[in-house]
Formats: sequence, C-alpha cells, structure tokens
Amino acid sequence: MKKKHEATLSLDDPAQTIHLDTHMDCFSRSFVDISTLFKTHGLCTMDPGLQSTAICQSAITFIDGEKGILRYRGYPIEQLAEKHDFTDVIHLLLYGEIPTQTERNTLRDRLNAASLNTSFQEALQTFSTARPDAHPMGMLLTYAAELSALYEDAFDYHKADDRERAAIHLIAHIPLIAAHIYRQRYTQNKTIPPTSEPQPYAAHFLSLLPPRPNQSDQSAAIHQTFVKALDAILTLHADHEQNASTFSVRAVASTGSNPFACLCAGLAALWGPAHGGANEASLNMLQTIGHEKNIEPFLKRAKDPNDPFRLMGFGHRVYKNEDPRANIMRSICAEVLGVLDKQEDPLFHLAKNLERIAREDPYFIQRKLYPNVDFYSGIVLKAMEIPTQMFTVLFAMARTTGWMAHWLEMTANAYNITRPRQIYIGHPKRTL
Ligand code: SDX
Repeated sequence: MKKKHEATLSLDDPAQTIHLDTHMDCFSRSFVDISTLFKTHGLCTMDPGLQSTAICQSAITFIDGEKGILRYRGYPIEQLAEKHDFTDVIHLLLYGEIPTQTERNTLRDRLNAASLNTSFQEALQTFSTARPDAHPMGMLLTYAAELSALYEDAFDYHKADDRERAAIHLIAHIPLIAAHIYRQRYTQNKTIPPTSEPQPYAAHFLSLLPPRPNQSDQSAAIHQTFVKALDAILTLHADHEQNASTFSVRAVASTGSNPFACLCAGLAALWGPAHGGANEASLNMLQTIGHEKNIEPFLKRAKDPNDPFRLMGFGHRVYKNEDPRANIMRSICAEVLGVLDKQEDPLFHLAKNLERIAREDPYFIQRKLYPNVDFYSGIVLKAMEIPTQMFTVLFAMARTTGWMAHWLEMTANAYNITRPRQIYIGHPKRTL
C-alpha cells in the first residue's frame, strides 16, 4: 500500500524540503519511495550492495533477520522442512499454496513428463565441456545456456501459460542436468537410467545417480534418511528474498531475456564463495583447519582486517541473529551421521567446536555473525558421498524453483528495466 507524503527529505545546500511517499509491507513497516527523486528533483541516493534498498514488492518469501525468521508464502521454514517434501514446496513457491493430493500428483506428473521430453533427453546426451575436469558449476552454466538454444522458439513469453510451462521445464530439467554432470565428472557410468515411475523430486534425483562407492549395500533405512535429508536441504535452499542470485535473475529478466538466460545469471551469481559457493568453501575450510588445536589461529586470521580469510559458512547480509536454516541443517547433520553410525565424525565435532568458540568471541558477537545455512550443509552432503564441488550444483537445483517463482511473479506485472545510477569520480572533460 502506498501513502502520500509520509516522509520528508530536507537538504541544506541549496535549502529545500522534499516530500516523499512511502510503501507499507504487510507488517505495516514503512519503505520510503525515492523512485521519482531524480525525475522530479534531479537527486540520486547512494546504496552500494543495496543494503537499504527494496527493488520490488514480492509475496513469495519473508525474512526477519533480527528475529531469525524465514517463511515461504507465510509458512515457517521449520514447519515446511518437517512436514512437506520438496515437490510440495515447488507448488507452494510457484502457485502460493500447499498442493492438494490431486495438485501434488499433477505437478509430479508434469515434472516427470518434462524431464522425459525427447529433444531435451537427446540434447542432454550431447552436453559436454571443453575440459572434462571443469568445475561442476561451470558445466551447469554451460548446459543452462544450451537450454536457451534448445528452447529458443518453444515458448511465447507474452503468454502466462507459456511462461509457467517454461518454468516447469526448467525445474524438471535441473536434476537431470545435475545427475549428468555427476556422471560425467565422477563416474565411468555416463548414462542416466530411464525414469520408470514418477517419483518425488529428491528421491528422483538420488535415483539418477550411480550408487556411491560406500553405498552399494545401502540399507533402506539409510536411503530413506538420505531422501528425507535431501528433501529438507532442497526446501531450505529454495528461496531467500532478493539475495544476489535472485536479484541477478530479476535484473536480467527486466531486459526481457528468456528464463533460460535468467537462469544463467542466477547460476553465475550463486557460484561465488560469498553466496552459494560458501557450502563448498566451508567444508574445504573445515578440512584445512583439520583439528581443534588449529581453531584459534584460523579465528585470528578471520578477525584480521588485513587477512582476506573469512570464516566460511558464518555471517549473513540479512540475518543478524540465528539463520533458522542453520539450526535445521545441524539437526539433519546429526540424523544423517547417526544413521551411518558416524556420530563421532571429526568434521562435525570440529564444526560444533568452531561454532561454540566463535559464538563466545567478542568479534563475532559484536558483528552478530552466526553460522548460516552453508556451515553444516557440507558435512551432510559429504556424509552422503556427494562430491564437494557438486554442493553448489545442489544449491542451484533448489534455488531454480525460487528463481522461477520470482521470474513468474515479476513477468506477471509491468516492470521497468533495472538500471541503477553511479557517482562519477573520473576525469572531468579532457581534450585529445
Ligand atoms: C548465502 O543473501 C542471502 O540470502 C544469501 C543466502 C541465500 O540463501 O541466498 O543466505 C545464501 O549466500 C549465505 C552466506 C554464505 N556466505 C558465507 O558464508 C561467506 C562468509 N560470509 C561473509 O562473506 C559475509 O558474512 C557475507 C558476504 C555473507 C555478508 O557480508 P556483509 O553483509 O556484506 O557483511 P560485511 O562484509 O559488511 O561484514 C560486516 C563485518 C566486517 O567486519 P568490519 O569491517 O565491521 O570490521 O563482519 C565481518 C566483516 O569483515 N565479517 C566476517 C565474516 N562475515 C562478515 N568476518 C569473518 N568471517 C566472516 N564470515
């Protein structure tokens, strides 16, 4: 809701008073509307990193960083991770509601049908990169771009039905592409088995992978725990308001680019270690620290402003309290290690000790730095024998649903091209 002249901007030189409108969110919190500031007053604002700037209105996800709250369409993440599988979360994020049994089966069948799409299946077999040992995120980026070529004239993005169909295709294709990358990078067994019966999303993805080295005799209990853990991990990573990769998807979508090109933008942003690459970086960091006796020197480096080392999996732009996902991930970690009889996993104990020491350290307390979703996820995925460089691919598999939900929400209404301003500090006019 927009309210007239609820804010006043007073400038000294030249002296002027500017009345600004405000927007209210569903909790009656005010957002000052500066969108006409340049057009009406020739004035701009400065907000590197957009820490104080809302770029859109959205009804998909809500975060309260001070209270450690995360909700999808109003439902707390803790309840969703416990009570619903990822297929339900896809329906909730895309369509706004938890599905009925009929809607759940329809979505599952549509995802299954899209993944069996003949032209996609044929293209998938041709997906390869110049370097067979390329990083899986580099492979995923390459193959996502291939999809934009494959579906170049398949959808009319002016039609809402076609936009929704394209989103379903993308969400359906990502697990197969991830499984193709896994098989290309880590096994000799390159061919993905044909999908027999439609399965829930997480179980379907695990069924596409060859048995991991230590899981050939995997018991049904372990498999079920892995499916449940992956379901929850996908739910935790599905969406997160206007994070860097979702903002990138929206910025590219604002130029009218197709959703496959928008996916490439999201993947490129997610790959960075400050964002979705942190799960891989966090596990590598724990393995580098190696032993509790090394915690103090590494914390010293993390606190040194002149040392680029950061405690990976710690801190967050929005959460200045617990990341609710980290608490759920810690429990998932204990459950997976428990079923594998690895409760004494040294990395898990090292992580818990590192968290305990950091939480007592004034540097981290003053800056409100807590473990985020990436701190424990690497330990879980390593226990499930997912290769470390595949961690961000799994994050991308989950976040594709969030990106598509935001793309559908944005393209359903009028939007402006994203084009921020800058403060020019270069040479004034010069003559050659
Ligand atoms: C994700 O945005 C999202 O929602 C992202 C995400 C999602 O679901 O989409 O939640 C997923 O990306 C989680 C974050 C994963 N990244 C990491 O774990 C990498 C390590 N974390 C840091 O790089 C950092 O905390 C960020 C990037 C996550 C947040 O950085 P900000 O908000 O820009 O904070 P900042 O860099 O301004 O830091 C404020 C202070 C600084 O110290 P001072 O200059 O005040 O002395 O805190 C320090 C920073 O040096 N600091 C850290 C730190 N994070 C911040 N010091 C040591 N270790 C850290 N991890």
